[in-house]
Amino acid sequence: VIASIRARLFLSLGIATLGVLVATWIFAELSTEPSSRGQIRSVLAFASVLALIVGVALTEWVARRFAGPLEELRRTADALAAGDFEVRARSRRPDEIGGLGRAIDRMADQLAERLAAVRNEETRLRVMLDAMEEAVIVADRDGRIALSNAAFVRMSGSTGLGRTIAEAMRSGELHDAVREAIAGRSAKAMFDLEGGRQKRTVAAHVAPLPAQAGLIVVLHDVTELRRLDAVRRDFVANASHELRTPLTAIRGFAETLRDGALEEPRIAKRFVGNIVENAMRLQRLVDDLLELSRSESPEAPMVMTSVDPLPIVSKVLTALEGRASSKGVQLGVEGTPESAPIRADARALDQVLMNLVDNAIKYTPSGGRVIVRLARDADALTIEVADNGPGISASHLPRIFERFYRVDAGRSREQGGTGLGLAIVKHLTQGMHGEVSVESKVGRGTTFRVRLARADGAPAQSAEQPSSA
Ligand SMILES: Nc1ncnc2c1ncn2[C@@H]1O[C@H](COP(=O)(O)OP(=O)(O)OP(=O)(O)O)[C@@H](O)[C@H]1O
Ligand SMILES: [Mg+2]
Repeated sequence: VIASIRARLFLSLGIATLGVLVATWIFAELSTEPSSRGQIRSVLAFASVLALIVGVALTEWVARRFAGPLEELRRTADALAAGDFEVRARSRRPDEIGGLGRAIDRMADQLAERLAAVRNEETRLRVMLDAMEEAVIVADRDGRIALSNAAFVRMSGSTGLGRTIAEAMRSGELHDAVREAIAGRSAKAMFDLEGGRQKRTVAAHVAPLPAQAGLIVVLHDVTELRRLDAVRRDFVANASHELRTPLTAIRGFAETLRDGALEEPRIAKRFVGNIVENAMRLQRLVDDLLELSRSESPEAPMVMTSVDPLPIVSKVLTALEGRASSKGVQLGVEGTPESAPIRADARALDQVLMNLVDNAIKYTPSGGRVIVRLARDADALTIEVADNGPGISASHLPRIFERFYRVDAGRSREQGGTGLGLAIVKHLTQGMHGEVSVESKVGRGTTFRVRLARADGAPAQSAEQPSSA
């Protein structure tokens, strides 16, 4: 700009000056005495040199006055184009160049605003994606990963960016689904993911993006769901099996009686006794199942009141004393505080202790001892049921609160156990906002601990006021 302004200005000034000089010279040649012509010529020569100097200076001044600010504006625009949205022209000129500068500034403001909005939106999407339970990947049409979320990193160990889906997750089923999606059809796949600590089962949904832009894969870790499903199936199978055993026995004895055994009073009496025994077992099982389903139901009607645990402990011990002594197991209680009201449901607490003490007596061989110990701290009461029986090995310990889980299924069933007791204990304790834990050493014994909040502990709670939860 500066060069072109300079050239044009200089040219027009030059032509104008030259015109004036030539006109003056011709006029002087025609109208003056020959003697003074020499003088006029030198004056004219001096005037042209002066005109040349003034012309150059003027040209330079005009050129700089306009081209400088324009150059400035160009730099601003360049910086904007390069992505620096902080630069502004801040021109205060009242003319067109100033107006152009202000227009550029307004444009920069707008750009900065839009960019901030886009970035905001981007962050929101990112946060949303990363907060998702499901792993999400977006891949281009060659199956190369362009975007992935935090759940995907957790699942596969890396973002996978730049790699193909097949490289990031080795699975034939997923690969087939991806191929389907590239061809334009949504597809589902279920596959096992090896590697890492444990095998995971993953359900994938692969969908093509519009305009063949690529595809999106949503991966859902269904390991836990599948495990729960297996647990449920196990539960039904186990429950049916447990129910069938006493039922078969009852039916067998009843049929034998019908077919003639009734005539022999001695045999009949024994058979009826067997029927009663099996019916009781059936009853226990159904009671346990009902209790379990009630304790697992979220609307379980727990009536939380301030409960004195001592009478309940005594009642449980009295109820089980006969069984303990006939088995040769000593039953005792330790550390009974004067008063230790706790927040609990009396019936549920009774059930919990009944199950724990029953287990301790059942699994402790003759000559052993079972002790119920009560201990208070600032805000809770811990009820321990400790035995010196065979203990439970560390491999079984994490699972014994599961429904139907028995360390030695055969032996436990012989003893009338169904494996539901501890599941009930756990659910009831949690229902009372308490905790149950177990500690065991093989050959040394087992201690179950139930921790429940004190009703007279925290001053915030209205201690003696019964209330329902
Ligand atoms: N005090 C204990 N000592 C050793 N093993 C125990 C003890 N308590 C529980 N177990 C083990 O944990 C398993 C699960 O106990 P749980 O009370 O749930 O079932 P159960 O006693 O077999 O049957 P149920 O209580 O339904 O009649 C038992 O089968 C037993 O193997
Ligand atoms: Mg039990």
